[in-house]
Parts: sequence; structure tokens; C-alpha cells
Amino acid sequence: MIKSIYRLSIIKVCILVLLGSYSCQNNATNSSTIDAGVNAKIDSLVSQLSLAEKVSMLHGNSKFSTAAVERLGIPNLKLSDGPHGVREEILPHAWDPAGWTNDSSTYFPTGTALSATWNPSLALATGEALGEQARARNKDILLGPGVNIQRTPLCGRNFEYMSEDPLLNAVMCVPYIKGIQSKDVAACVKHWAVNNQETNRTTVDTYLSERALQEIYFPAFKAAVQEGEVYTIMGAYNKFRGVYCCESKYLLRDVLRDDWGFEGIVISDWDATHSTVDAANNGLDLEMGTVVDNYDDYYFANPLIKAVENGDVKEEIIDEKVKSILRVMLKTNMFEANRNAGSYNTPEHYQAAYNVAAEAIVLLKNDKALLPLDKNQIKSIAVIGDNATRKHCEGGFSSSVKAKYEITPLEGLKKELNEDVKVEFAQGYEKTSQLNNFVLSANNTVNEKLIQEAVKKAATCDVAIIFGGLNHDYDSEGLDRPDMKLPYGQDVLIQEVLKANPNTIVVMHAGSPVDMSSFANQVPSIVWGWLNGSEGGRAMANVLFGKVNPSGKMPFTLPVKLDDSPAHHLNLFPGENNIAKYEEDILVGYRWFDTRNIKPLYAFGHGLSYTSFDFSDVSLSQKEVSSSEEISINVTVTNTGKTDGAEVVQLYSHLEDSKVLRSEKELRAFKKVFLKAGTTKTITLKIDAKDLSYFEESTNSWKLEAGNYQLMIGNSSDNILLSKEVSINQ
Ligand code: GLC
Repeated sequence: MIKSIYRLSIIKVCILVLLGSYSCQNNATNSSTIDAGVNAKIDSLVSQLSLAEKVSMLHGNSKFSTAAVERLGIPNLKLSDGPHGVREEILPHAWDPAGWTNDSSTYFPTGTALSATWNPSLALATGEALGEQARARNKDILLGPGVNIQRTPLCGRNFEYMSEDPLLNAVMCVPYIKGIQSKDVAACVKHWAVNNQETNRTTVDTYLSERALQEIYFPAFKAAVQEGEVYTIMGAYNKFRGVYCCESKYLLRDVLRDDWGFEGIVISDWDATHSTVDAANNGLDLEMGTVVDNYDDYYFANPLIKAVENGDVKEEIIDEKVKSILRVMLKTNMFEANRNAGSYNTPEHYQAAYNVAAEAIVLLKNDKALLPLDKNQIKSIAVIGDNATRKHCEGGFSSSVKAKYEITPLEGLKKELNEDVKVEFAQGYEKTSQLNNFVLSANNTVNEKLIQEAVKKAATCDVAIIFGGLNHDYDSEGLDRPDMKLPYGQDVLIQEVLKANPNTIVVMHAGSPVDMSSFANQVPSIVWGWLNGSEGGRAMANVLFGKVNPSGKMPFTLPVKLDDSPAHHLNLFPGENNIAKYEEDILVGYRWFDTRNIKPLYAFGHGLSYTSFDFSDVSLSQKEVSSSEEISINVTVTNTGKTDGAEVVQLYSHLEDSKVLRSEKELRAFKKVFLKAGTTKTITLKIDAKDLSYFEESTNSWKLEAGNYQLMIGNSSDNILLSKEVSINQ
């Protein structure tokens, strides 16, 4: 053993000499010199590799790793899920946990929660912490972020994803990627592309217009590549326009490489590869997770060698793939002795998780100003609901996190309150569902006994807080929910508790919209608490008792009923004969609700505060702009209340009388501003005039239509406070 390590280190010394101890750190020479140097060295390495060695680098040799080429000191790649925490170690050749005792990680708020903060700096902090933890676990690629658009409220993976809106999706995923990659770990933006449902996810064939693709489904991936400089991307399971994503020339070469200049690794989703020659020639680089008995039978193993030998795949194509892998290895300093060693479950990591959780929580309703609760006034609280005590870290399948700890809402409340406040817990409802092999055996029985116990406690307490929503039987990879209903008879529970105590607060813990229409108008306060990470319970208690002033905003629309949602209103979900036609086109999420004048229960961008804000003095840098110019929008924000807080200033654009279909409004920019009570700040939002373009299919290009655009400033998509007109001339 010692001998081989010694031999390997000698080889490594050679490799370092060969590569001129290349590192990502900024050398004195300019980047083009570095690139030229790197490419020369990569070429030199590739020239020494045999075909068999090259091909061995292009497929998994275990569930989550690839083979090294020790002869040349090329390390193997070690990959790990997931987007909101480094997954526990999995056995090399089976999906079972390896049973380690030192692989518990920090559980971060999931994608939708992170987006609900509308705070890119928290995305950066999350990425940095995840990168540190991935390195501490000796990982090279972390399989996140998931940025698929939330097209339907029922998608089981909505909780992992970031928004229904392409801009919010893009702005939040870029810093997350940069954070991970700043720690010598490659991020992996997924799932490329148009992977918006779990129903028949490995075979469904998606069709949509080029305009919807370019305006709605591509932007976050494009930002990940061009702004985030993401090192890897994961090909999705589904088909796209009749071709599996992992062998789609259009997706993997035309768009990704030729249009966007992607230089990293295209990794298949696990068991998402379906061919050797087509996948190799059309741009897949690394095959993972294929279900075969022997790794040599992978499409990119012996069959690929044969394909090269018989001329179906040119060796230059193989070389391109190996170069992409070596480039990522260099960018993550895998050949460097001083590569980031990472850190694990540090106080800073938990602080980051707390900061996200606290800013993610959305105050949806607070009519009687029941919140924040005053611990000096309150003498007793009835804490009700299975989600008051349920931990959500594990579950959801690939994004599951074996958390070092997860504070539940009940634990958070008990930490927040001292013993002179009586806390009475009642389960209220029972998780009677089971999820086995992605089959949900739900049963929606109302548990009268649990409800009566809850009612009794609510009647004797000053306030009642019901923690309900979903869990990972419903928020899960591998299946879509059957409907938007709250399971386990929660509607009945909420009504009965409200009758017993008018001071009832409902907290929803879910990663996806649920139907709240049966109680939303009666309950005085509603809070959305997400699947909110290791520190979620503490953050929730701090929001409920006013230590934190909520500043979260919904990253997706909460419909009154499922049929109000575009894919359901048009009866397009989950598609027919395994074909999903996105005929709602660009009208996804609030674009649909606003353009079709359908009032949601709570709108995209909605979120209240314990204080109040005033927007005033909006001004534009110029009233007329040409297509190449930038527009600056100044607006003054005042915290007119008595509590420090944060507001998200949102800028939407609208064009009347457009010659093409346009959404009623489209988010173009946003900024979160923190203000002490009584203070004022003027903020500036900047957009390029060309950001107002639409994608013109006839010319296959972006088109800026001349006209008078309304630039609308609000604190929610359904609460526009100011507006200014700008004329775009050609
Ligand atoms: C899964 C998921 C993907 C995950 C991968 C590895 O099926 O679709 O998001 O990263 O396989 O677990």
C-alpha cells in the first residue's frame, strides 16, 4: 500500500512538472496565456493516453465515481448529491447507505426556500458552505443546483428547484454555483433540459415552442454556463422533441457548446444514457448510473471502444470528452497539493443555514396582526400538527440529507420560550401515507381522535399554531402529487381548531403549492415555512415571536385551485401517450395568471412584513433608449413602520399593443433592501434595453420591439406601486 502511494506521489510530481503546477489561482500572466498553457498541457496528457484509458474516464466505475489513470497521475472523479446538503456515503455498487458514522451533513433549506429569500448573497453563502462540505468529504462534483422551472404545482421535485420565473431562477443559481466552485468543487446544474415532471420522467417526450424554450426554460441554464461558468451539467432523463436529452445534438452541442460556449462536462443523469454512438457523437461526455451488471458493459465502456475501432465514433470525439474532464480537474485544482481541504458542519455553515431559513419564511397573511407573538403576553400555546415535530432532512430520494441535526418547529419554540409559557403539543393529524418505490399509498382519513385532542388544547391556550403542509411522501423525486390537496384531513383539523380558538396561526411546511382555499379566508395568519433545513425550527420560532422580521417572497404562485394553473387549465399535464406538449407556451406561473386575469390565492413575489414600506420618487435615467443602452431605475424606499425589516423591490415590464403575444408582466430585475425603522434609501435597478426583447421564431433570434414600455415597481407581482414609461426606439 505504502509503495503504491509513494509511486503515485512520484507520478503526481511528474504531472505537476508537466502541467507547470497549473492552478486556478490568478497567476501574473493573463487568462489567455493560462488557457494556452493549460490546453497545451491537456493536449500533452491526452497524447499519452491509450484509447482504453481515455474511455475508462468516460463512464462510472461505481455508483458515484469514475476510474483514475494512475500511470499518468490522473485522479478519479468522485461525485455526490445533492443540492441542499452533501448526501451520506452510498455503497459503491448498490443504492444502500454505506453506513458511515461520520457523514452527517448540514441540511440547507431546499431550492424553493433559498429562492424565497430573493437574496443572491445567501445563495453564494449556501454554495460556499456546500463546497466546503463536499471537499471535506473528498468529493469533486456536487450534483446541484436543480433549476428546472416549476411548470406544475404537482411536480414532486418542485421543492428542489428554484422558481416559476426564469430571472429569479437565474439570479439565484449563479452565485450558488460560484460559491461551490470557489471551493475547488464542480457544481452540476441540472436537469438539462425541460425536465418539469416526474410522471414517466425517464421516457416522457416534451415538446414546446422555441420561444418558450429560450424565454422560460433556458435562461437559468444559460446564466449557469455564461455567468456562473458552471463546470458540469446533467443531461435529463426525458426526451426532448423526440430525442433523449443525453443524446440530443441540439441540446448538447448546438446550444450548449456552439451557442453558449460551454467547456465543461456533460454528465448523464443516472441511467439516462441510451446509446453509444449517438450519445458519444451528440455530446454526452460522462455516463453514470446505467443499470447493467458489469461496468464494462456501459455504453461508454467496451461498446465505445468498439465504436471507435469500427469508425462509428472518431477518436477526436473521445479526445474532446477527455479534455473536458481534464479541464474541470484542473479548474478544481485536483492536481494541486494545496487544493481546498474543505470543512464540515462548522458553526459558520449552520449560521448560513439559519440565515437562509430566516429570510426564506414568507408571511402570507396577518390580518389581525396576531403576529409577531409577544412572549411577555402569551401564557400558553397549543402547538399542533405532525409537521411540528417531523424532520424533513431525509427523504425526497437523491437530495436526501443525513443531517447532523434538524431543529423542528416544536423544538425551536421550546428553545425560544422560557418555562413560564406553557407549550401544549397535539399531533392533530397523522402521516398515514407510505411511499414505496415511488408509489404513494396515501390515505386521507381524518383522524377524529387526534383532532379532538388538538381542539381541546387549542381551546385552553392563548394561541394555537398548526404546523401542516406536506412531507417527502409528497415532495419527492420520482412521482408527482395526485392533486394539490392537503393530505391527512388537515382542512378539517384547521377548521375545528379555528372554531375552538380564533387566534389560530397556520404554518405550511411544503416545497410546492397546496390548496389552502378551505381556510385561507378565515384563518387570521398564515406563514409559509418551506422544507427549511437544519435550523428551520429555530428560524420559525424567531419569526413567530418577532426576533426576525419575515422578508421572504413567494418564488412561485399559490393558486386558489389546481385548475387555475396553466398546465391543468389546458389539460396538458402530464401529457397524452407519453408526450407532454407545453401549449401554455410562455405563459407559465404568474405570466399565465396575470395575462388570463386569474386571481391566485397568493401571488408570485408576495410576502408581508411586520413593518411597512413606502415606495416613492421613481425616476428613469432616460425616457428614450436605443437597443444598445442600459436603463437605470431609481426608487426611494422608506421603512414607515416601527420595526427594522427588508423589502424586495421588484421591477416588471409591460408592453401594451405588442405585435406578439406578451405576458401581462415579466420580472426584469429585483433588489432586496434592508432598512431600519423610519429610514429611507434610494436604490437603483439596472436593465439593458435588450432585456425587454422577445424571442422571434421566424428569425430564430431575440427581437427588441420598438414601443412604449411600462416599467412597473412593486413589492409583489400583484402589487405594483409605481410605474414609469420608457420608449424604446430601434
Ligand atoms: C437521480 C436524479 C439526479 C441525481 C442522480 C444521482 O435520479 O435525477 O438529480 O443527482 O440521480 O443520484
